[in-house]
Amino acid sequence: MDSQLFSSLTIKDTTFKNRIVMSPMCMYSAESEDGHVHPFHLAHYESRAAGQAGLIIIEATAVLPEGRISSRDLGIWSDDHIDGLKKVNEGIHRHGAKSGIQLAHAGRKADVEGAIFAPSPIAFSEKYQTPQEMTREELNRTIRAFQEGARRAREANFDVIEIHGAHGYLINQFLSPLTNKRTDEYGGSRENRYQFLREIIEAVKQEWSGPLFVRISANEYDENGNTMEDFVYFALEMKKQGVDLIDCSSGAVIPARIPVYPGYQIRYAEEIKQKAGIRTGAVGLITSGLQAEEIIQNRRADLVFIGRAFLRNPYWPKQAADELEISIDGPEPYRRGWN
Ligand code: FNR
Repeated sequence: MDSQLFSSLTIKDTTFKNRIVMSPMCMYSAESEDGHVHPFHLAHYESRAAGQAGLIIIEATAVLPEGRISSRDLGIWSDDHIDGLKKVNEGIHRHGAKSGIQLAHAGRKADVEGAIFAPSPIAFSEKYQTPQEMTREELNRTIRAFQEGARRAREANFDVIEIHGAHGYLINQFLSPLTNKRTDEYGGSRENRYQFLREIIEAVKQEWSGPLFVRISANEYDENGNTMEDFVYFALEMKKQGVDLIDCSSGAVIPARIPVYPGYQIRYAEEIKQKAGIRTGAVGLITSGLQAEEIIQNRRADLVFIGRAFLRNPYWPKQAADELEISIDGPEPYRRGWN
């Protein structure tokens, strides 16, 4: 088979050797409560690069300490974090994979000591603290933190930045009418709800000229939430701002049940790609090589993001290649045992 899954893709000056991305996944394993890389992360990410992922996007990494999902999240709020992240990248780059970082702020879903922040003072559920409504100052401070995160990501040698705008975290809380009840220029119309992300993208671009991805939740599973028309509007705005790819996930904005089945989110990547004319990534229960190949061949998305299947098997790309009956290069030290 003439595989498209194993064809390269160039975005700006970065070439990914194939279309397989390790999806960002929090490991809640920072060395300390200061967000530092642990030896576990070095082994964890390098092994997936040895397994021939084209791109590895490391887990949601907090741009501010109060934006952590848990106290053991990785952080990028201080220059002290750069060295550890650099080591992660050395391991990833050793095998010809590219590396990305997901810049994140949990907003009202933060589980940390002290006050938490959101566009509006509405708790996610009874188990969560009620957040404080962000003031203009707090908004500016947070936007600057994304910018500083981008600078540190550049200094740590990442190839890609992905802004985390999905799963009901801070940016998603601004985008969604379910969680954003503000009456200033950051709330109300969808143009206004997009304003916070617009300013974050502009701020990140001050420090970053490489490939820029944004992950969104493209279905909120609530009739009063954003619609596909809204997501296409957001995607078109991001395209105008120079975002290179929309990574299309869904849910977790409110505690709604998500119907899950193989490839359950692919149609969002497909629809946004078609309607907004922007590259997309498909994610969610993509577990086989044939399934991934079909997505790329039928131009339903430009990249496939593999999550849990990559936790189960660091060599998932090899498994996919075997399934497609093609041979791919392995890591140099494994050459004699690879094929
Ligand atoms: C995740 N996911 C996730 N998503 C994200 O955008 N940032 C993150 O840090 C995390 N963290 C995380 C941790 C763990 C343990 C899992 C299992 C998942 C979601 C993940 O990237 C992916 O979108 C989903 O898991 C669906 O894809 P799979 O697993 O069905 O391939």
